[in-house]
Amino acid sequence: MNQLKNFITGMEFSKETMESILESGIQLKAAGGSDALRGKVLTTIFYNPSLRTLLSFQTGMQKLSGIANVLDMSQSRKLEYTEGAVMDGSASEHISEFIRVVCSYSDVVAIRKSDFIPASDNSQTLGMSKEEMLSDSFFEQVLRYANKPIINMESNMFHPCQGLADAMTMKEVLGNVTKKKYVLTWAPHPKPLPLATPHSQMIMPALFGMDVILACPKEFELDANVMKQAEKLAQDGGGSFQIMHNQTEALSGADIVCEKSWLSLEHFGDWNTEKEIRNQYADWQVTSERMAVTNNGKFMHCLPVRRNVEVSDNVLDSTNSLIIQEAENRMWAQMALLRHILS
Ligand code: CP
Repeated sequence: MNQLKNFITGMEFSKETMESILESGIQLKAAGGSDALRGKVLTTIFYNPSLRTLLSFQTGMQKLSGIANVLDMSQSRKLEYTEGAVMDGSASEHISEFIRVVCSYSDVVAIRKSDFIPASDNSQTLGMSKEEMLSDSFFEQVLRYANKPIINMESNMFHPCQGLADAMTMKEVLGNVTKKKYVLTWAPHPKPLPLATPHSQMIMPALFGMDVILACPKEFELDANVMKQAEKLAQDGGGSFQIMHNQTEALSGADIVCEKSWLSLEHFGDWNTEKEIRNQYADWQVTSERMAVTNNGKFMHCLPVRRNVEVSDNVLDSTNSLIIQEAENRMWAQMALLRHILS
């Protein structure tokens, strides 16, 4: 693995460095930009759709006087990922050349590649094993070939830029977030969704020393290794970590309610059963009644959101909702990250 300032899991930098990135994001927001990255080139590579990630990286790089290129992989040649492959099939370029060529044009490269694509009818057509779901082998492969820093814009396991923007938003609203009560609550959803975002939304507040509660039905606990990492980070950062299966109890006294839906690892692959179980928890929708037990808690969601399935309109549109500020902060936080990585 290279020794560059990569940002793949969101756990690469110390708490002090992460604090300084957040501070820098807040300063950049106040200043409206900087010419710190004049002449620098960011290449973003998207295997999956995006609104916020694409526009926030592109606009952010422009606000730093840099250049942002976007490569849409749905329009690109098919790549080969297997080492030693005899490439006589449909793939016409190997990842080893692909990454080295991209790096030769770039100062920093950001990639979104999440392999779990929910089938539109929720049928059993999701051709991916649980082991693949819990692995970021693609990013490991990229790091073997890259000679420029790599940023993860969402992989199978982590979405660290979302976690970073969430942390900046909480810092803006709460000031010092240490020991503030943060609840990451599971939400109902018509489709099974990946784990990357909730993993990062659990890891990042833990790293900043918040009292983190993972609130979810018992079948929806997140990856055991990532939960262990969150517990360790929270302890090291001066906070705490616990898992609760009763949403109302979990939300009691919360300063922040961050909502997200994700699939059941316990029933991974058995999608009809998974859907039946998911449907049993429709009452996990966050409503104003649920929010009433919080400490006048702020509501967060990474977006996109299913209105009146995951959360009621009156919560999303309340003055305690931070969803648009959170989306905007994707840009400022990533600008600070880019500046740190390229400094
Ligand atoms: N929250 C987030 O990553 O949004 P996009 O999928 O639109 O980039």
